[in-house]
Amino acid sequence: MDIKKVGVLGCGLMGSGIAQVVAAAGCDVVVLEQEQKFLDKGFAGIEKSLARMVERGVAKGGITAEQKTETQSHLKGTTNIKDLADCDIVIEAIIENVAEKRKTYAELDAIVKKDAIFATNTSSISVTELMTSTQRPERFIGLHFFNPVPMMKLVEVVKTIATAPDVYETAVEFGNKLGKVPVRTSDKTGFIVNRLLVPYLLDAIRAYEEGVGSITDIDEAMKLGCGYPMGPFALLDFVGLDTTYYITHVMYDEFKERRFAAPPLLKRLVLAGWYGRKSGKGFYDYSDPKNPVPGKFA
Ligand code: CAA
Ligand code: NAD
Repeated sequence: MDIKKVGVLGCGLMGSGIAQVVAAAGCDVVVLEQEQKFLDKGFAGIEKSLARMVERGVAKGGITAEQKTETQSHLKGTTNIKDLADCDIVIEAIIENVAEKRKTYAELDAIVKKDAIFATNTSSISVTELMTSTQRPERFIGLHFFNPVPMMKLVEVVKTIATAPDVYETAVEFGNKLGKVPVRTSDKTGFIVNRLLVPYLLDAIRAYEEGVGSITDIDEAMKLGCGYPMGPFALLDFVGLDTTYYITHVMYDEFKERRFAAPPLLKRLVLAGWYGRKSGKGFYDYSDPKNPVPGKFA
C-alpha cells in the first residue's frame, strides 16, 4: 500500500513532532485537534523545530531553508474530523486515556476509508484494547515514536494477534520512509522501551523521596555516570508528568507490581497541574527556560 496522505490526531508534544516528520518525508499531512488554539501551539512548535534544524545547517544533520518551506507546504491543520476521510493512514497521538482514544477511534472508523490503517502512538495502552473500538482489527497497529520525534531515530512497530501481515510490513516500510529505525514488537504493555524506562524514571522519584540525593544530584549522577543525555527528572519534565502519571496507571494495572506504581510525589505534582516543561513547572521551574531551577519537595 502506497502511503501518500496521512492523518495525525492530536498536535501536542508528540502529534506535532509526528506531523513534522511525516511532512518532511513528502507525505501530505492533515492534523486534527479539538480546538484551533491547540493547532496554533503545535504548529508553532513545528516552526521552532524546523528553524533549529535550518540553524544547524545541512553539514551537521540539519536542513536548508527550502526544505523547511517544502515540509510546511505539506502540513494542514483542522478541527473537522471529516477531513481525515481519505487518509491512507491515521496516526493517533491524543491524551493517554483509554476511554478518550476508544471514543475517537469509533468515530474515526465510521468516517475514514475502509482500507486506511489506524496507528496508535500510545506509550502503554494495549493496542488490542484500542483496536476493538473499530471494525478494522487487521488494519490496526501501534507506531510508537519517541520524544522529540524529529531527533529520536526509533519507532516501535507494534502488531496485535489480529494485524494482517501485509499491513504490518507496510507500517515497517513507512517507518523507514520517515527516516526512522523501525523495531518490531508485539502488544505487551510498555512494548520494549517503556517496559524498561518507566520503572527507572519512577525509581528516580522514589530515590529522591528516600533522600538519596537532590533533583540535580540524581540528574547529574545519571548523566555523568551513565552518559545519558538527560537525567531522569529532566526527562520526566520533558515527557510530561501528566502523561507519565497516565502511563503508570496502565502499567500498574497490567503488572500489579510496585515498580510501576506512581510515587506519591508524582501524584501530588500532577494534581497541582505541574506537568513539567509543557506547563512551565514540574520537577524544575522553567520560568527562565535557559536556566531551569530544581524544586525542593522532600
Ligand atoms: N527539533 C529540532 N532540533 C532539535 C530538537 C527538536 N525538537 N531538539 C534538539 N534539537 C537539536 C538542537 O538544535 C541541537 O542542535 P545544535 O546544537 O546544532 O543547536 C541538538 O539537537 C542538541 O539539542 P540541545 O542542544 O537542545 O540538547 P541535547 O544535546 O541534550 O539534545 C535531546 C536534546 C535530543 C532532546 C537530547 O537531550 C536527548 O536525546 N534527550 C533524551 C530524550 C529521550 O530519552 N527521549 C525518549 C523519551 S521516552 C518516550 O518518548 C516514550 C514515551 O512513550 C514516553
Ligand atoms: P499532549 O498532552 O502533549 O498532547 C495531546 C493532545 O491531544 C492535546 O493537544 C489535546 O488537545 C489532543 N487531544 C485530546 N483529545 C483529542 C481528540 N479527541 N481529538 C483530537 N485531539 C485531541 O500529549 P503527548 O505527550 O503528545 O502524548 C500523546 C500520546 O503520545 C499519548 O498516548 C502518549 O502516551 C504518547 N507518547 C508520549 C510521549 C512523550 O514523551 N510525551 C512519547 C511517546 C508516546
